[in-house]
Amino acid sequence: MITNILRILTTRSARPFIFKSNCNYNLDLNAKNLGLYFHIPFCKKICSFCPYYKIEYDRSLLKNFHNALLKEIKLVSGLSVKRRDIESIYFGGGTPALMVDYLPEIIDLVRNLFNIKGNMGIELHPRDINETLLGKLKKCGFNMISVGIQSFQDRCISTLGREKIDSIDKLKLVKEFKFTVVDVDLIFGIPGQTKEDLTDDFITAVENGATQISTYPFIEFSYAKIKNKPLNRKLKKQMLESLLGISEKTGYRRNSIWTFSKDNLPGYSSVTRDNFIGFGPSAATLLQSIFKINTFSVRQYIKCLDDNKLPTALSLKFSPRTRALYWFFWSAYKLYISGDNFYGLFGKKLDNIFKLELYWAKKFKYIEKYSGGYKLTDKGAYLFHLIEQTYTRQYIDKTWRMALSNPWPKRIALY
Ligand SMILES: C[S@@+](CC[C@H](N)C(=O)[O-])C[C@H]1O[C@@H](n2cnc3c(N)ncnc32)[C@H](O)[C@@H]1O
Ligand code: SF4
Repeated sequence: MITNILRILTTRSARPFIFKSNCNYNLDLNAKNLGLYFHIPFCKKICSFCPYYKIEYDRSLLKNFHNALLKEIKLVSGLSVKRRDIESIYFGGGTPALMVDYLPEIIDLVRNLFNIKGNMGIELHPRDINETLLGKLKKCGFNMISVGIQSFQDRCISTLGREKIDSIDKLKLVKEFKFTVVDVDLIFGIPGQTKEDLTDDFITAVENGATQISTYPFIEFSYAKIKNKPLNRKLKKQMLESLLGISEKTGYRRNSIWTFSKDNLPGYSSVTRDNFIGFGPSAATLLQSIFKINTFSVRQYIKCLDDNKLPTALSLKFSPRTRALYWFFWSAYKLYISGDNFYGLFGKKLDNIFKLELYWAKKFKYIEKYSGGYKLTDKGAYLFHLIEQTYTRQYIDKTWRMALSNPWPKRIALY
């Protein structure tokens, strides 16, 4: 209901967002601030709360998956005559560490076909962290890692259904390898978790070398099978407030709705790119006005690339206004809505395109002006925390649920 009203008001149209199959839109790689994302869809043990596309680790599939991934990289890079500059590379999943011995070949190919200008990040499950793995990642050129700790409290880890691991020891080891960015993922709103558990977790991450702490509100996805419901909105609000307090005390600056960072180090964020190409099953690509999603099936993904076809399952063409709205949404997530960045990307003035939205947001004190654009106030950031969760439940949950139940869905309409 709320997304429906907001969509109609902000897009100025009653049309839903529609993903279609079989659209051969041209992908234009001549896009600004381009990032690459690689989705590695294998996990040793599946966590019941996790919404991402993954299957249980299958050694026999790995080699074929690797070859398919190399082929997808070649096919996509071949769409541009010119070698494109790449601002960032992220490997996520799933558990990319399960493919560590294949990573050098993948990265070499990417380096041959693109100009890598920025940081390289990878997500790690704490269980997989050891000296050998970290050494190999350093050698590949990764300078940012994100460790999915979720909580340092055994009680919360059991509620999430994960095995207990000495996460502190793992972080101590990571520190020795001196990565530029070490992100620690925490979840808040786990049943039975208290504000004190969360602030203790934050401090533990700070004391053990995290340069960034990502704190995600626990979200129940309709197709994930969790036993206990996340804590309610009021308790999550109190937890978020306690995070604001502890981040201030420890000197970690809030650099997005759910992340806090040390000094002025680069942030670890695979979702907030202006344009990005996603490789691997379920990976999304945004190039200019085209948003596309790969099939949510490893086997179908491999089959498509065997046939020299891109594994695109769904595509959506943004109108100029909805493309600008997409940008607005993710800028608000990063707390700054920059007029200069908007002008650079769209050649138009932010204040003209979003006159009404900015007027009301200012009037209700959700944003305030700064020299280059607008900044979310704490009140605005809280509203966005609610909006982001609502969109996740309405849009991401629906799209991923349908794509999981059918590797080639015909059409998905988002209201
Ligand atoms: C792709 S996942 C996990 C990365 C890594 N495989 C691991 O398990 O540590 C990235 C992050 O999403 C967050 N996450 C996963 N499921 C979530 C949920 N249901 N609600 C909130 N955050 C979630 C977790 O913090 C997780 O570390
Ligand atoms: S949370 Fe991580 S390890 Fe667990 S299923 Fe999701 S991606 Fe795999």
